[in-house]
Formats: sequence, structure tokens, C-alpha cells
Amino acid sequence: MERIFGRPIVTQEQMRSRIRDLGRQISADYAGKDLILIGVLKGAYAFFADLARAIRIPVRVDFLIVTSYGAQVKTTGKVKLMTELTEKIKDRDVLLVEDIVDSGLTVQYLTKMLAKQKPRSIKICTLLSKPERRVVDVQLQYIGFRIPNRYVVGYGLDYQQKYRNLPYLAVLNQRSRQEE
Ligand code: IMP
Ligand code: MG
Repeated sequence: MERIFGRPIVTQEQMRSRIRDLGRQISADYAGKDLILIGVLKGAYAFFADLARAIRIPVRVDFLIVTSYGAQVKTTGKVKLMTELTEKIKDRDVLLVEDIVDSGLTVQYLTKMLAKQKPRSIKICTLLSKPERRVVDVQLQYIGFRIPNRYVVGYGLDYQQKYRNLPYLAVLNQRSRQEE
């Protein structure tokens, strides 16, 4: 796989160790609270599964499916919500679980949308953040890794719906684009 993707920029071991820390921190911060984790699919599926199992307090889980990019690498600024929640979030503590915050438009939109359902609190946990790319100011309470402005794939993140199954995070290189 490294021939196609190059060296990992976040290895499986780094991922495991950081997620363990995030799980510990979230468990302490939300002890005694009514926490619901909301995963933003598809990108967050791998992170979500690992993070949820690193949290040591009882939680509810729910998911939203959004599409924001179409087949493009650069943001369109448009967020399309494909599903609704199945759990009630009113008076609960919501933690939105994202794969990556890039422009910030997706989490900004989702936070506003969820706020209408009157949760007790809403915070964001993202595996990755690209601070250089931000176009709106969003507060991220839990960040796995800050990465430079490069397009990355693997561990849930895709390029044109592929490479989500790569078990580590790699920069998308020219060769993998050409294989399309
Ligand atoms: P934002 O709305 O610009 O913050 O974009 C967030 C969404 O864009 C993420 O949830 C990803 O699905 C996608 N995205 C942004 N950067 C990357 C990347 O480097 N690789 C794969 N997907 C990305
Ligand atoms: Mg996403």
C-alpha cells in the first residue's frame, strides 16, 4: 500500500495512542452527564468506532450522513444533510464526532442545525484539523491531530469515495489520483 500512498503521515500506532488519550479526557469531562456521540458519516466511521470504545462512561450513539464535497478535492461550501437523527438530543450533552475540519463550514452548519433541538451542550471532537484552511471560526474542543494543508486519505477519509479502508492516514499523491 505504501507504493500507492507513500509513508503514513499519521501511523496506526500514533492514532491508537492519541485516541486513547482523547477517550480518557472525554470520559473525565463528561462523567455523570448524559452524553450522546453523533458521528458524521461517512468520513468519521473509523474514528468513531475507535473513539467510542476508548470512552469509559456510558454513552448513546447516533449518526448523520452529510455530503459536502461531491467528487471534488476542494470545498464547495455546500453541506447536504442526507439523514436525520433517530435519538432525541434535547437536554443531552452532544459531542459531534468528525473526521476532519477543513473550511469549518460542515461543523458550523451541523452545530447550528443541532442547536435548534435544544441540547444541553454541543461540542466538537475531530480527528484532524487543517487550521490553515479555515474560512469560518469554529471552536473545536477535542482535536486528534493538526495537519498541514494537504489532501489526506485513509482511516475513513476518501478521495472520490475510495481509500477509506486504508488503516493509516496518508497524503494523497499524484499516482493515486491517476489510478482513477
Ligand atoms: P469543511 O466543511 O470544509 O470543514 O470540510 C469537512 C469535510 O470535507 C470533511 O468532513 C471531509 O469529508 C472533507 N475533507 C476535507 N479535507 C479532506 C481531506 O484532506 N481528505 C478527505 N476529506 C476531506
Ligand atoms: Mg466528513
